[in-house]
Amino acid sequence: MTHIQDIAQSGNPVLAARAQEVEDPTSPQIQELIDQMLATVDRAGGMGIAAPQVSTSKRIFIMCSKPNDRYPHAPEMEPEAIINPELVSCSEEMETDWEGCLSVPNTRGLVARHTHIRVRYLRRDGSRVERSFSHFPARIFQHEWDHLEGVLFPERAEKLMPEDQWRDMMRSAAP
Ligand code: NI
Repeated sequence: MTHIQDIAQSGNPVLAARAQEVEDPTSPQIQELIDQMLATVDRAGGMGIAAPQVSTSKRIFIMCSKPNDRYPHAPEMEPEAIINPELVSCSEEMETDWEGCLSVPNTRGLVARHTHIRVRYLRRDGSRVERSFSHFPARIFQHEWDHLEGVLFPERAEKLMPEDQWRDMMRSAAP
């Protein structure tokens, strides 16, 4: 049975550490960790989760973009485990948008991210991938990448806002 993991909260040292490379993505321990992360991010309704958030300092994250009430225009993506990611290149062009994090409760922040990125990583079957992401998925990738470097989004935010105030603002801005 796959257990839902507690999510480490801001202030926990595991979130500030640089996570370690994964030696064998196909090992039973890593496969179980990925299953736990998939279950945990699904239960929490997140768009991504990084291994340090479940208190495991390994270079793995899950991306699982889907439309929700916070991000109605987010693309639907099959949840995917990203292992030992590398950033190959980043566009000079940046985009600024609101972010939140399962490890930073009741907070939204306005964060500039590269609009387009080229990345390499391993899949959970050990296969190598090189591909590009743009816009919202590129934002998720950069946010989760930061977790592996020990960085939380408030450190990058040009503006922070309590979640309830942010919701009111977004509601009043809706057409
Ligand atoms: Ni996060």
